[in-house]
Amino acid sequence: MKILVTGGGGYIGVVLCERLLDAGHTVRVLDRLYWGRAPLAHLRERIELVQEDVRAIGPDVLDGIDGVAHLAGLSNDPTAEYNTEANWQMNADATAHLAAACKQRGIARFSFGSSASIYDGLGDGLFDESAAVQPRGAYSRSKFAAEESLRSLAGDGFHPVILRQGTVYGYSPRMRLDLVVNTFIKDALLRGTLFLHGGGWMWRPLVDVGDVAEAHLRCLEADAGTVSGETFNVVHGNFQIRQLAMLVSGSLSLHERSVRLEDAPLPKINRNYRCTNAKLTAALGFTPHVTVLESIERMLAKLPVKDPAGLAHPRFYNIDWMTLLEDVVATHAGERSIWDATTAASANGAATQRSSAPIL
Ligand SMILES: NC(=O)c1ccc[n+]([C@@H]2O[C@H](COP(=O)([O-])OP(=O)(O)OC[C@H]3O[C@@H](n4cnc5c(N)ncnc54)[C@H](O)[C@@H]3O)[C@@H](O)[C@H]2O)c1
Repeated sequence: MKILVTGGGGYIGVVLCERLLDAGHTVRVLDRLYWGRAPLAHLRERIELVQEDVRAIGPDVLDGIDGVAHLAGLSNDPTAEYNTEANWQMNADATAHLAAACKQRGIARFSFGSSASIYDGLGDGLFDESAAVQPRGAYSRSKFAAEESLRSLAGDGFHPVILRQGTVYGYSPRMRLDLVVNTFIKDALLRGTLFLHGGGWMWRPLVDVGDVAEAHLRCLEADAGTVSGETFNVVHGNFQIRQLAMLVSGSLSLHERSVRLEDAPLPKINRNYRCTNAKLTAALGFTPHVTVLESIERMLAKLPVKDPAGLAHPRFYNIDWMTLLEDVVATHAGERSIWDATTAASANGAATQRSSAPIL
């Protein structure tokens, strides 16, 4: 199949592109490239790259496409809260428009990267996809609205699948260090201390980035009748934050690093929820299997463990990077495009393409 991966230059997107190519599919990426071109450099000869905003895609982008894996948009609570309007446009409206365009063009297969954070606020319990969710934050509300659009469009030859991804861990060529396990590894390497906010008793469903890519691949390839209009959680397991800190500090101690765990006050945004992967296992026989411990070792093998100072760079933290890009553009009163801004903001100057679009 020829698959369009929106957000293919992002943390999950790059790993998904690699997985789709390995499985023999052809890949076109649509991405604004907030993080520049470097994360896709190793795939440059094997993919088509379209630098566009998912809110305003040209009609050609869907030419020849058989399926879409839709990941583009603001991808966490802080960036969604930072600009709630842009978040709604990207995550809710653009998803509805893209799906309607696919249906109209006869593009049958569509997988969507939703979020298990939709379960936050339901109280204690292990939730499945039938739970009556009440998303609270800007991010999870926009994801749920996108889900509702997709469910309403399912049928008449259009087969969207909604994947409620747990918090992701693991290595990607476009690394994020603002996701709990990855953050703990960075803090362990840079500071030797992990902070347990509110004691770290909160629960999170977690999953490895490679397993998320595998879930998208399997849903795009599955028998349409099995997945059409369905919602699946994608989760390896549920963990308390405190437990994750112990897994990271224990792993680091095997690398002769001592890591302290320290109590800290509760943050403003505090999420606590659990959910189960049982439906995905039953429907597609797929259970995310890469453990936190395995993934930590893989990350330690790839990250600059001996010289970790570069891990503090803002490009690894979505909210820091977005605000920095906006500052650069604002400082230069519209002279600077996102690409100039990305270059100016990055020590590596990875992105060079020009565009007149604002940052958010
Ligand atoms: N990483 C997680 O833990 C996690 C968990 C649940 C759901 N998700 C969802 O999975 C998807 C991918 O997440 P990620 O971790 O790879 O995030 P990411 O921020 O690394 O990647 C998002 C990509 O989308 C692109 N993008 C953003 N806005 C765009 C726009 N308007 N037009 C075109 N491209 C745009 C960015 O340039 C980036 O390459 C997101 O939709 C996110 O909400 C992620």
